[in-house]
Amino acid sequence: DWKMQDVLEEEIRTIHSMVGPNDHVICALSGGVDSTVAATLVHKAIGDRLHCVFVDNGLLRYKEREWVMSTFESDLHLPVTCIDASEQFLTALKGIEDPEMKRKIIGREFIAVFDDFARNLEKRLGKRPEFLVQGTLYPDVIESCPPPGSGRTHSHTIKSHHNVGGLPKDMKLKLIEPLKLLFKDEVRKLGSILNVPESFLKRHPFPGPGLAVRVIGDVTKGDALDTLRQADEIFVQAIKDAGLYDEIWQAFAVFPSVESVGVQGDQRTHAYLVALRAITSEDGMTADWYYFEHKFLINVSNKITNSVRGVNRVVLDITSKPPATVEWE
Ligand code: XMP
Repeated sequence: DWKMQDVLEEEIRTIHSMVGPNDHVICALSGGVDSTVAATLVHKAIGDRLHCVFVDNGLLRYKEREWVMSTFESDLHLPVTCIDASEQFLTALKGIEDPEMKRKIIGREFIAVFDDFARNLEKRLGKRPEFLVQGTLYPDVIESCPPPGSGRTHSHTIKSHHNVGGLPKDMKLKLIEPLKLLFKDEVRKLGSILNVPESFLKRHPFPGPGLAVRVIGDVTKGDALDTLRQADEIFVQAIKDAGLYDEIWQAFAVFPSVESVGVQGDQRTHAYLVALRAITSEDGMTADWYYFEHKFLINVSNKITNSVRGVNRVVLDITSKPPATVEWE
């Protein structure tokens, strides 16, 4: 793709003109496409003067930390520090039921962890990092008028941002936003030129607050997170095995924290239910629920009730957006 090759070279030139030979740059990786492509591009420009951090907030999916870290290290050779802050996040979330409160707490804890990372780095380098990389895309930046000369019009809907927090304002870091003129599909093309694996570039979007918005109510109650992870993994893996992953915008399990009666052998059971949600969408603003074959659903349901402890019922979310949102919280 020649156009993206040009974009890449242009961005690298811009980074060279901004970042001096002794300057250091930091970047928080979310495990998503945007921050990964942005970091890979900056790494290509300045090498190991880029310092990335990946925070395990205890709200990631099944084996997600292992998977993204191995992609960063083995495929992309990115210098990434992995911080396991799950205890810290989950302790802060204990007893919290309100979704907005959960988002706030997660944002706040993230800033604390990032702040710590930056301070440690400063000690190690003997100087402050000057720059911060962010994977901001064009639809995120533009309020009313596109940057002059970008050739963009603003016919695209602006996505309302309910992302996790911001970063500490008093750090006074200068921003590097190499994707800020690009749309999602262009970021994928750029990632492909940068050798980011296809399996990574095609990942479904995942909300910043992670599984916290997929467990209704207190996320720390009982085995909610672990149960959700297992059910989610079975569902998503079945979708991949059936070759349906790429035609679906997002697919995931939800843990509504609801118990119901069941029967196993000749025993009455009282156990949790799991909901499955899969949607198609262009941009996440509106969405249609995805139509699965009966046979697929029967297999997934059986597999979940047979292998996930504490679950005796599986339901399917058949609501579009609007009136429902994509996430349940
Ligand atoms: P909703 O639930 O608002 O979701 O229909 C639209 C898209 O945004 C994602 N989403 C979030 N992403 N932080 C994020 O970074 C959040 O708090 C958040 N809430 C929802 C959702 O997964 C979907 O892609």
